[in-house]
Amino acid sequence: MPSLKTVNIALVGLGFGAEFIPIYQAHPQARLVAVCQRDPRKLAAIQQAFGIARGYTDYAELLRDPEIDAVHINTPIPEHAQQTLAALRAGKHVACTVPMATSIADCRRIVELTRKTGRRYMMMETVVYAREFLYVKELYQRGELGKLQFLQASHQQDMDGWPNYWPGLPPMWYATHCVGPMLALTDAFAEYVSCFGSGTIRPELVSRYGSPFAVETAHLKLRGTDLSARIIRSLFDTARQYRESIDVYGSKRSFEWSLVEHEPHILHTAKRPEAKIPRPVRVRDYAHRLPAPVRKFTKKGVYDLGKKTHLSFTQGSGHGGSHPHLAHEFISALVADREPYPNAVRSANWTCVGLCAHASAMAGGKLVSLPAFSLP
Ligand SMILES: NC(=O)c1ccc[n+]([C@@H]2O[C@H](COP(=O)([O-])OP(=O)(O)OC[C@H]3O[C@@H](n4cnc5c(N)ncnc54)[C@H](O)[C@@H]3O)[C@@H](O)[C@H]2O)c1
Repeated sequence: MPSLKTVNIALVGLGFGAEFIPIYQAHPQARLVAVCQRDPRKLAAIQQAFGIARGYTDYAELLRDPEIDAVHINTPIPEHAQQTLAALRAGKHVACTVPMATSIADCRRIVELTRKTGRRYMMMETVVYAREFLYVKELYQRGELGKLQFLQASHQQDMDGWPNYWPGLPPMWYATHCVGPMLALTDAFAEYVSCFGSGTIRPELVSRYGSPFAVETAHLKLRGTDLSARIIRSLFDTARQYRESIDVYGSKRSFEWSLVEHEPHILHTAKRPEAKIPRPVRVRDYAHRLPAPVRKFTKKGVYDLGKKTHLSFTQGSGHGGSHPHLAHEFISALVADREPYPNAVRSANWTCVGLCAHASAMAGGKLVSLPAFSLP
């Protein structure tokens, strides 16, 4: 398939997804040709606010639009796999928010279909393009951390009151914000995982997915390395301020995420007097890696979509400045006719860690191997 000079993209799902509208509109190699969401009133408001001529309330109809090269899906979790598969079958490239799917069988179908169709798939994992991750990766690549010894990540959030597919969701089914950075930092794949469930959520939350645990903690083995990583997830009935954190321990230096939002992260340096080991760090943006017109979107609050459309938006943080990096990675991969990062196989590995971890927790912590299709 010939590579594209400009990518005609359509955004599907305009809650969190709407934050990408001005980014694609500003990107020099993208053309945002259409948007899609089910509510016609909200769709019209967004089209008008951003001057987007084409709007669809029916996803199947959007896929029949021959002008669209790629879709970026930001719909509720249960839609991801089926919408991805339908887009690949329609000959479109796919970027999809996390997770790739909620079953191992669907992850396999997506990987197989990308191979069969030659179309690209990228899971839009925000954490691996967030400023903290880019900072730690830079330290690691420069050798400043020394030898890596251990990694851990947490994602704790109280999801009471979120849309109807959330109540009772097994915590590890949405683990890519933890798994992604551990594996992307090392460029490794997970080989096997063991997970324990802990505590119990309210009975009315358990019924939908049959998952009783308040907290799930997993250890994963990084294939071909001497490293393991630990991840912690909770979604309900556990008191904790929202936190998506990564901690990286090296022989020379270690990075620890702050305990409380807006406090500085800490860099520890070995072989110093105890009081001088920790040092607070402020992490800068990595906007210089982006085309000039989208650099401003790494800044917090640069776009106030709510004001612009008179609709309410619950997001708005830009997730560590990651959104323009994600859009740029997807678009530039299509233009260069290369695999985006993470591609389908890697996205499947990151997603299946969580799916295998929950299966492990339900089996009392049994070791579960990652499926072969999620390994290179
Ligand atoms: N950091 C992150 O990566 C991050 C952050 C927030 C949300 N998300 C993900 O983004 C997704 C959406 O989250 P949200 O909070 O915006 O949800 P939301 O419910 O606010 O918005 C969902 C949007 O999808 C549209 N939609 C739903 N079903 C559709 C269908 N069949 N066809 C077309 N459009 C459809 C809705 O009209 C709406 O615009 C979720 O999967 C969530 O996990 C990821």
